[in-house]
Amino acid sequence: MSQRDVIIACDFDSKETTLAFLDKFTDCKPFVKIGMELYYAAGPEIVKEIKARGHKIFLDLKLHDIPNTVKKSMAVLSRMDVDMCNLHAAGTIEMMKAALEGLTREDGTRPLLIAVTQLTSTSEERMQKDLLINASINDTIVHYARNAKEAGLDGVVCSPLEAGMVKEACGQEFVTVTPGVRFADGEVGDQVRVTTPARAKEIGTDFIVVGRPITKADDPVAAYKRCMAEFAE
Ligand code: C5P
Repeated sequence: MSQRDVIIACDFDSKETTLAFLDKFTDCKPFVKIGMELYYAAGPEIVKEIKARGHKIFLDLKLHDIPNTVKKSMAVLSRMDVDMCNLHAAGTIEMMKAALEGLTREDGTRPLLIAVTQLTSTSEERMQKDLLINASINDTIVHYARNAKEAGLDGVVCSPLEAGMVKEACGQEFVTVTPGVRFADGEVGDQVRVTTPARAKEIGTDFIVVGRPITKADDPVAAYKRCMAEFAE
């Protein structure tokens, strides 16, 4: 059964701005994504503070390093009691297995671990020319998703447009977390592989990650509720 939910990307540069933003949500506690910008600006304290307010947290630090470093870093993140964290599948199956080991607590519990396939800002042309990956972007994403599954991870980050083929290759239970979401009447910005919350629901993704369409809206709470109505209800 899908656990469909909207995750708000809190891409802010300070604790104060973030908490002021979250204060607007008086009648609900959205699932929140803390990415590099906020984590580097506000440190681990911001994770504790948002958790204490009752939000679920996706800690989006996209680890990518040698297996031992990733394993030890994941052990630190695991102690922060977040609900979801991630790494780059490009780090290899060995790195993903090490990450899972590091993340698993002594009692066997752990946050969900999700692998980034190809960033939703990357086009097939840039992937082939800049990264010298001699395959289609869809084949690359499915291959990385299969690697993540083999390593024992829970799912992948990809565009909602790719969620269907990932589920076909890795099973319906394999979680898809999908940024690159825009309202039909909204701006695309630097994202390339985008679609709407309603279409993401039809394709069958589990979580959509929405940043600027909510954080930069005149009324962020209304924008969040519009996302929830289109995607999760
Ligand atoms: O503002 P926007 O809706 O584009 O925000 C999308 C968020 O998802 C950003 O925080 C970005 O870092 C993150 N993300 C992404 N593509 C990925 C992985 C994460 O856009 N593949």
